[in-house]
Amino acid sequence: MNLDVIRTALGGGPTDGPAYRPEFIRPGADPGLDRLNVLLTQGAVVRDTLHGQLVELVKSLHPEKVFTRVELHEAAIAHLEGTDPILYGVWVYFPWSHRLVHILDEVEFALVRTDRNRNKITREEQAILAGKKVGVVGLSVGQSVSLTLALERSFGEIRLADFDTLELSNLNRIRSGIHEMGIPKVVNTAREIAELDPFLQVTIFPDGLTKENMDRFFTEGGKLDLLIEECDSVDIKILARQKAKALRIPVVMDMSDRGCLDVERFDLEPERPLMHGWIDHLDLEAAGRPMTNEQKIPYMLPIVGTDTLSTRMKASMIEMGETVSTWPQLASAVALGGAITADVHRRILLSQFTASGRWYIDLESLISSNRKLVPEQARPTPVEEFDPTTIVNGKSRELGPAVHPMSRELAEELARAAALAPSAGNAQPWRFVLAEGRFFLFHDTVRSRSHWDPDHLMSHIALGASLENIRLVARSRGIALSIEQSAGSLTDPLIAVIEAGPAIAPSPEALEPWIARRCTNRKVVDRVPFPEPDIEMLRKAVSNVPGCGLRIITDQEDLKRLAELCSRSEKVRLLDPTGHREFFEHEVRWTEEEAKRTGDGLDLATMEMTEGQLAALRIASDPAAMRLVDDWRGGRALQRFSRKGIVHASAVAVVTTKGRALGDRLQGGSAGQRLWMEANRLGWSVHPISAPIFLSHAAPLLSDLAEHHRSELAAVEHELAGFFPGPESPLFMLRLSPAGEPSVRSLRLPLHRLFSVYESITV
Ligand SMILES: Cc1cc2nc3c(=O)[nH]c(=O)nc-3n(C[C@H](O)[C@H](O)[C@H](O)COP(=O)(O)O)c2cc1C
Repeated sequence: MNLDVIRTALGGGPTDGPAYRPEFIRPGADPGLDRLNVLLTQGAVVRDTLHGQLVELVKSLHPEKVFTRVELHEAAIAHLEGTDPILYGVWVYFPWSHRLVHILDEVEFALVRTDRNRNKITREEQAILAGKKVGVVGLSVGQSVSLTLALERSFGEIRLADFDTLELSNLNRIRSGIHEMGIPKVVNTAREIAELDPFLQVTIFPDGLTKENMDRFFTEGGKLDLLIEECDSVDIKILARQKAKALRIPVVMDMSDRGCLDVERFDLEPERPLMHGWIDHLDLEAAGRPMTNEQKIPYMLPIVGTDTLSTRMKASMIEMGETVSTWPQLASAVALGGAITADVHRRILLSQFTASGRWYIDLESLISSNRKLVPEQARPTPVEEFDPTTIVNGKSRELGPAVHPMSRELAEELARAAALAPSAGNAQPWRFVLAEGRFFLFHDTVRSRSHWDPDHLMSHIALGASLENIRLVARSRGIALSIEQSAGSLTDPLIAVIEAGPAIAPSPEALEPWIARRCTNRKVVDRVPFPEPDIEMLRKAVSNVPGCGLRIITDQEDLKRLAELCSRSEKVRLLDPTGHREFFEHEVRWTEEEAKRTGDGLDLATMEMTEGQLAALRIASDPAAMRLVDDWRGGRALQRFSRKGIVHASAVAVVTTKGRALGDRLQGGSAGQRLWMEANRLGWSVHPISAPIFLSHAAPLLSDLAEHHRSELAAVEHELAGFFPGPESPLFMLRLSPAGEPSVRSLRLPLHRLFSVYESITV
């Protein structure tokens, strides 16, 4: 057979039009018989089970009677009262399938079809429902709901709105035949309803619900009694609710995740705020205007309830745009949604249910073998306080009285300046003590405890930065300081003992005013070229710190490579369960109130995130979801948090040292602080991007790291080393950009928590 013959035949075959309304032929009335004849001669496929339906009707009308088969047969014929069966009831023609079906007429048909509803639904209740009008917007869950409502016959008229056509990827959840692909979803659903019960009145809105057709949808042919809202677009969700509220129509929405059902009884509570008041703070008028996806996020989040999504949904959302194209929806959830919504719909319309709210029929938690995805993590007990007393006493005794005892006033000034230094996670891992006229700088080993900083590399850099602040203040005030820096082990809490020397001529330090003005700015802006003179100034600022070098990276390809390394390591940090817990439970301050109350940690507002990133962060804060993402070896989307900022940076500055002994770390911190302040002074915003260095440094020291994370960090370290040939190794990496002022600055602990004066040491 020639393929062209087939091709021609394929092109010329009958096509499926948009018809969705059945044709009723009542042969007793004109032109019933003629029309029937035409259809039969056109070869309509006939199904005539009228006699069987009459038998069922007889049984329904006489439930108290026990019939023999013969009696039933005779009673069915008697019911016709002599009418020829062909003329009884109604013939229904379905043009889209060329089928002709003979059924009882509406009253008898409905009686038999709903007989098995009794008395979960009584005949009286069924009659009430038959007078109800329901609108369904969005036909993924909506199709399941509409068909369940039709099965229960809990409406008389249904209005269906959806602008989409049926596609193959819908057939995981929309009950339909493959021959229906390509037809509008409204037509598909209308046909399904008509094939089940041709007497139900269906009106379709193939453009979906729009501002233009909203009035018609809600009121033409009579006001809706209930709205079932299952659409994806946030503007229509809000507009539909505004309209429903104005018309006092209850709104029901199923989320097809965790069996979540939402009900808003605008019929009973006309003043009720939309979406339970969760979107009250937003500009609802703006929702009707065109919005970007980013602008839609704050409206969408409260509606879907990000925190209450299922673990699988959260994990899949993290993978959206990476390994999955859109959010998942299962047939079981859609079928459940149809069931829950139909049940609630019926009870609302029969005045058996009056509440507004959100409910969960979460099958996974209701039907479970108690197996938890992630074992319950015991929250760490509240941290104990670091106590420097013993060390201060011992050291003071060893040193004897100070030659130039430091005043309390100066010590306080130094402590205040030191505390303004930056620290990873804003942990502020320092303590200051004035005792016997000497100033002690301590590493607060309790505050600095961190899974990803097992040997305190980050804390030591912060302490080095705080020491630099102390030096700058003293020089500006004309005070010679003698600083005895600890050369001890990495776990030694005493970092420096500082004595005031004789007064010297004050030497105004250009960087000193920048102690208080320096800050982290994580805003992402477009790059501008980083000028050579600025590079020179940065070099100069660092040059007087012995043992430290500086690399400035401006090449765009290099920045891209660094962005990849940084984002890969940050991804590991978020996927590693301990790192995850530490970051989300201990470091992040989710609200302004929490940031103010604690005075430490990372205030969410300082992260300068877009609404989309904030939403992603909230989802990523669920440890069970992240465990799944990690199991799937996914999480590339997590790299978006940091990648863009580095790709768009004007420069990345890296302080290098020869080694990572305590002295190198403190010097590196000092150099980093000078670099940072000088960059700020020159108008550059600074954002440390420490993950690739610190995580790859920490990885070999962590025993419980998953192997795939360990090898990822080893690869990062290897690639990073490629940037720094020679004996110098990178210690502290900062992104520089022209981002202006940050939206919010980080806070600090009150001084009295950090600084103590020991009036007399105990011997
Ligand atoms: C050693 C060190 C590492 C840091 N690493 C990061 C980092 O990887 N990402 C980041 O956003 N901020 C990082 N920071 C910045 C701190 O979070 C910031 O200094 C702290 O929150 C205080 O805020 P401030 O710098 O505005 O005073 C780091 C700071 C230090 C000292």
